[in-house]
Amino acid sequence: MGRALRIKLQGGVPDQFAALVHPPVGLAILVLMVVRIGLRWWLGAPALPEGPALMNRLAHWGHLALYAVLLAVPLSGMAAWGAGISGAGDVHEIMVNLALLLVAGHVAAALFHQFVLKDNLMARMRPGGGAR
Ligand code: HEM
Repeated sequence: MGRALRIKLQGGVPDQFAALVHPPVGLAILVLMVVRIGLRWWLGAPALPEGPALMNRLAHWGHLALYAVLLAVPLSGMAAWGAGISGAGDVHEIMVNLALLLVAGHVAAALFHQFVLKDNLMARMRPGGGAR
């Protein structure tokens, strides 16, 4: 994508396969994120499990940060690809790395709950798993 963007910014026509696939897949993720945020707002989410206040605060901010980066990644990609803002490409790559870090932390926290604290946190993902 980086090479394709450079070619596009110089007025050329990129012929990389990624340039064909990456933007529509990324846009689909943006649409799914908007649907997800709508559902979260409409249906709510199960209350956080009982635990130390610090852990709950970390979870709250971690979730907010996940939503924010999963919007920022495709939006910055669109700004680079659609609007031709090359600086947005750098922001896009930083946001992708941040998203990967947050996802890794999110998965690690879920596994910690499930297998160390044994509070059956994963059950919340099932339909009817405790939504308000
Ligand atoms: C959640 C969705 C997305 C993810 C996870 C993602 C992931 C990535 C990754 C890992 C790269 C670096 C690899 C490479 O340069 O080939 C990249 C670059 C890029 N992506 Fe995305 N992307 C997403 C959405 C989008 C969208 C929607 C667009 C455009 C409509 C887009 C446009 C670009 C561009 C132009 C680059 C090159 C940036 C540069 O080198 O400055 N991306 N993306």
